[in-house]
Amino acid sequence: WSSTAHKVDGELTVGGVAVADVVAEFNTPAYVLDEDDFRARARAFRDAFAAYDVFYAGKAFLCTTVARWVAEEGLNLDVCSSGELTVALKAGFDPARIGYHGNNKTYPELRRAVAAGVGRIIVDSFIEIERLGQVAADLGTTTRVMVRVTAGVEAHTHEYIATAHEDQKFGFSITSGDALEAVRRVVAADGLELLGLHSHIGSQIFDSSGFEVAARRVLALHATVSTEVGVTMPEMDLGGGFGIAYTTQDDPSDPAQLATEMSKIVEHECRALGIAEPRLSIEPGRAIVGPAMCTVYTIGTVKPVALDGGAVRTYVSVDGGMSDNIRTALYDADYSCTLASRESQAPPMLTRVVGKHCEAGDIVVKDEFLPSDLAPGDLLAVPGTGAYCRSMASNYNHALRPPVIAVRDGVARVIVRRETEDDLLATDVGA
Ligand code: LLP
Repeated sequence: WSSTAHKVDGELTVGGVAVADVVAEFNTPAYVLDEDDFRARARAFRDAFAAYDVFYAGKAFLCTTVARWVAEEGLNLDVCSSGELTVALKAGFDPARIGYHGNNKTYPELRRAVAAGVGRIIVDSFIEIERLGQVAADLGTTTRVMVRVTAGVEAHTHEYIATAHEDQKFGFSITSGDALEAVRRVVAADGLELLGLHSHIGSQIFDSSGFEVAARRVLALHATVSTEVGVTMPEMDLGGGFGIAYTTQDDPSDPAQLATEMSKIVEHECRALGIAEPRLSIEPGRAIVGPAMCTVYTIGTVKPVALDGGAVRTYVSVDGGMSDNIRTALYDADYSCTLASRESQAPPMLTRVVGKHCEAGDIVVKDEFLPSDLAPGDLLAVPGTGAYCRSMASNYNHALRPPVIAVRDGVARVIVRRETEDDLLATDVGA
């Protein structure tokens, strides 16, 4: 839950606004974004990593309002597509503070980014290095570049695996020598200025040992570049991936602790390698926006289903589903939820919260104990839906993507409006 969320007589309140009042005004399903919580998490990263640059990863969730909050809190922005860049520029985000990712940026996309003055472009293939060199030449300018490398660490939620990591689409392999070759090509290209190496090991990571191994490997390459290529790179980026609590079983990452651990490793390694410390940057997305948002649904049907062995699971259908939160279906993600509109003393029952889509896998919350007097019209709230829910939302079954309502100091305002059926028909040229 976000920091201002609490219940008053069973009614959930966020940002000083009763969720039931948000619903009365804006209907369900809706994402409710706690502005103070978002800003506080952004600031916590900025303050903890005061000696670093913090890039908010817009893929987790981005709209113009949020881009402005990011700027106001002093963070930079990581975009990974032309669409995200459009939102950032529309918000007036300083392009010099934007990092642009992606493994398949086209010539027009790169040209537009360079022309707009994007601060750094993270290159991911030899073809892209050549393409970007061409863009810089065509525009008669110089652009800053980071080289995305594969650190040889694949991080998972609770562990990391140092095998099977090379077989994926991102980055230049350090072990094969491609990463060093990429550096050489960037250095050799007119119009490309090498800022440093970039590594991102995964997402929803709790175990900092993955970052530690990655930092060591990337710093070793950083040192090799100084000795073998004769170039001292000023920066290094260790990516994002810091885990958040989705259920009470998870232990969320603490920015201050992360900062201390990362700085220690980098300091120690640089001393051991006899090199100057590069300026570090990180790219948290989920850890900033994830806990700041919840999704509110209205219950439509309640259906007990007998399980083998005589137990019962009650399927509670809500007015959204996999179109507003694909993570349960896609990653088997765990969510929790709560009755948000009233107090109930009824004994708990085992429930599964499902959506309204034509698909059995359309599950929002796999298992939750909810009061046994749940009824149509009750509101359910699912916490921790700020990251990769609205941003991965779809129009499956021609669902209308829900609005994002920002709440703060007792005021609720729409920052992304609900889609309408006219929006759906707008792209259907036969309509
Ligand atoms: N930097 C880079 C280069 C990334 O690829 C990502 C995420 C991030 C930063 C931000 O990671 P975060 O701090 O948010 O974990 N859709 C998946 C997550 C995909 C993450 C992709 N890259 C999910 O819903 O879990």
